[in-house]
Amino acid sequence: MSENLISKAAEILKLNDLGHYTVPTHGLYPFQWNWDSCLTALAQVYFDEARAWVEIETLFAHQWDDGMVPHIIFHKMDDGYFPGPDVWSTGRDVPTSGITQPPVAGFAIRQIFSRSKDRDAASERARALLPKVLKWHEWFYRCRDPRDSGLAAIIHPWETGRDNSVDWDAPFERVPTDGVLPFVRRDTQHANPAHRPTQAQYERYIWLVQKFRSLNWNNELLHDASPFQMVDPGFNAILLRSIQETAELAEELGEHDIAAASKAQLEKGLAALETLWNDDIGQYTCYDRVMGELSSIPSVGGILAAFAPIKSERAAQIAGRISAMKDYSTYAVPSHDPKDAEYDGERYWRGPVWLIVNYMIANGLARAGQSDVANVIENDSLTLIEKSGFAEYYDPITGAPCGGGQFTWTAAMVIEFIKQSKAVA
Ligand code: GLC
Repeated sequence: MSENLISKAAEILKLNDLGHYTVPTHGLYPFQWNWDSCLTALAQVYFDEARAWVEIETLFAHQWDDGMVPHIIFHKMDDGYFPGPDVWSTGRDVPTSGITQPPVAGFAIRQIFSRSKDRDAASERARALLPKVLKWHEWFYRCRDPRDSGLAAIIHPWETGRDNSVDWDAPFERVPTDGVLPFVRRDTQHANPAHRPTQAQYERYIWLVQKFRSLNWNNELLHDASPFQMVDPGFNAILLRSIQETAELAEELGEHDIAAASKAQLEKGLAALETLWNDDIGQYTCYDRVMGELSSIPSVGGILAAFAPIKSERAAQIAGRISAMKDYSTYAVPSHDPKDAEYDGERYWRGPVWLIVNYMIANGLARAGQSDVANVIENDSLTLIEKSGFAEYYDPITGAPCGGGQFTWTAAMVIEFIKQSKAVA
């Protein structure tokens, strides 16, 4: 049975593979997306090691001079997606967007390295990537933490990858919509509009893009100029886990300066992450840097923090929180607590289950000794695939497939779940 799932998943990876990068799915997302690629490479390595390295190398070939690795690379034109390169206008030879995405590359590189059988090639390729990864991590603390708090902020919801989470509703009230040029959305032509962000949210996404473009994408200015500066625990946890893996890999390869710099970032970042713990709801929550307030919104951003090497007491509390939600949702882990008034089981990041998020939470919990809950997450993830196919996301109560179909990173996570649990067994 699991062999059958693996071969179906591998077919999807192949279908979406354009040779040196993979699209998330044809139609809805026809370019290279940053964290999609990194998580996809985790599965590619089982079939073709060289191909997995290429996925990451292609991404880093488009790193900006300041260190940022953009969230989309527009390798070739396709007008089925909005906002395209003309809206971003970042002035690059191969156009890219002007914002970033969760930095899971450091984690992915370490995994690919450890799984590679061609040790010489793996060392050489990892060694070439390490300074670039460090440069990206440094960029976060320089440009997205100008007051040196130890936590990186995001300045656009798309940077967290949780585009329309309830977490962004209140700060979005501060984002105006005047001056937004008329546009035609494409996402609602590829997917059910009831599963997608609203028009009011889209106008604010575009206002922010226009604002940053007016500042020539100068990252020394954007953070302070943005009315939207949110510190997301999940995003910072991904950064910290990648930093940890970078430190360990660098050590293994004798790159001691990179290892030392990464260890210092890790220590500071982990202490700062603790300031986002919210005892009232038993998980981490977002911090609104403009207002100076810790939010009380029960989204999966604060549960995803389990991906970082947090204290075992915290991992246990998060495992408890997931178990509690399981009592009133069929499938772990909803992207928003179904008991909250803002929950919407089919709309993008306002309730549905996403396999990539499940994978990262389960991975962190298993490392922290919370294997029971990690196993529940894995079982639920695979049950969803058997029931509803390789969708973009799933309703946590009914298990219905939502958003786009034949989704690359969903397929990659299926392969990863099955292969990793065999590795442990
Ligand atoms: C959506 C998701 C984002 C993802 C992208 C491509 O924008 O919210 O996380 O990277 O689609 O799959």
